[in-house]
Amino acid sequence: MVVKQVETKVWVVDNVVDKKSSYPQILQAAALLRANEVVAFPTETVYGLGANAASTAAVKKIFQAKGRPSDNPLIVHIADHNQLEEIAADIPRVAYTLIEQFWPGPLTLILKKKGNVICDEVTAGLSTIAVRMPAHPVALALIQESSLPIAAPSANLSGRPSPTSAMHVLADLNGKIAGVVDGGETGIGVESTVLDCTTEIPTILRPGGVTKEQLEQVIGRVNVDAALLDEKQVPKSPGMKYAHYAPKSPLIIVDGEPFFLQQLVDKQRALGKQVGILTTEERRHVYKADVVLACGERANLSTVANRLYDTLRAFDDTDVEIIYSESFPADGIGAAIMNRLKKAAGHQIVREK
Ligand code: TXA
Ligand code: MG
Repeated sequence: MVVKQVETKVWVVDNVVDKKSSYPQILQAAALLRANEVVAFPTETVYGLGANAASTAAVKKIFQAKGRPSDNPLIVHIADHNQLEEIAADIPRVAYTLIEQFWPGPLTLILKKKGNVICDEVTAGLSTIAVRMPAHPVALALIQESSLPIAAPSANLSGRPSPTSAMHVLADLNGKIAGVVDGGETGIGVESTVLDCTTEIPTILRPGGVTKEQLEQVIGRVNVDAALLDEKQVPKSPGMKYAHYAPKSPLIIVDGEPFFLQQLVDKQRALGKQVGILTTEERRHVYKADVVLACGERANLSTVANRLYDTLRAFDDTDVEIIYSESFPADGIGAAIMNRLKKAAGHQIVREK
């Protein structure tokens, strides 16, 4: 389907805006949300593409602008705890414990859906609903000002890396959405953790900003969806089955020492290929390739999460024909990093031993 071109407004705000203050930019963006238009905004994880979650017409615009498959449900964003019980039913105690500890923050809870306030397009016809309260002053102010539950996927074209700046949003969606609130770069850089609270033991469906270790400290045992451990299993989170985050050139993850990675690069260059390397600050000077991009510091993996999508996008502005990436330890925030990197690589991994 051809999406009609519109003029995408850009509202720059500083992100210290307080939840209740009425910045004119926030008022204008909220008015468009109330008029069932789609507006992108920053959260603490990545930029979201928001629409009125109660309106079929508004939510359809999200799917259309992103080119998103309609069987992939959206997360409902709220700014006030009272909104939760209007849209979710049979909320277990463990969910309240988690909310107390982690909201606002990068934790999405899957709960039983209540009534028909939220339209079926948001939940893709499922009997469950995904809810989170983002920890970003601009997101909270916008949701609060709109007085709506806001459905929001990441504000990228389907399949592209999620946006961590308004520039990324515009690169994908300029002319396709009503506006973007520019609150600068997002902090965490990877999406929220999606936790299914409808199972007896809560189950991580997507690793993200809140780590398994952090969850377990608060509620004890947490399971991990089998599909995250074995790529042949069908994931319980519909969105996890799609190819994602991929740069334009093939990406290969290398699980091994820098010397081994360099050998792989040298072989490709000997064949006349333009080769890129995705590494970290500590090792950027160790390698020789056509393009070497550092993505944060290995000694502090949260900086890698913060830079990951921007670095994947940056390769698209170069002429590299193949990219080799270092591998990262898969615990803590590393679980989310490796999950996204493996998807970007279509699960192509070369192991040294
Ligand atoms: O950090 C984030 O979560 C960002 C920001 C914008 O809040 N949003 C985001 O949304 O990443 P999206 O649409 O890109 O990813 C939502 C994920 C998908 O994997 C989707 O399948 C899953 O949540 N999901 C949504 N509703 C679900 C449900 N009822 N059951 C299982 N998975 C669900
Ligand atoms: Mg997404």
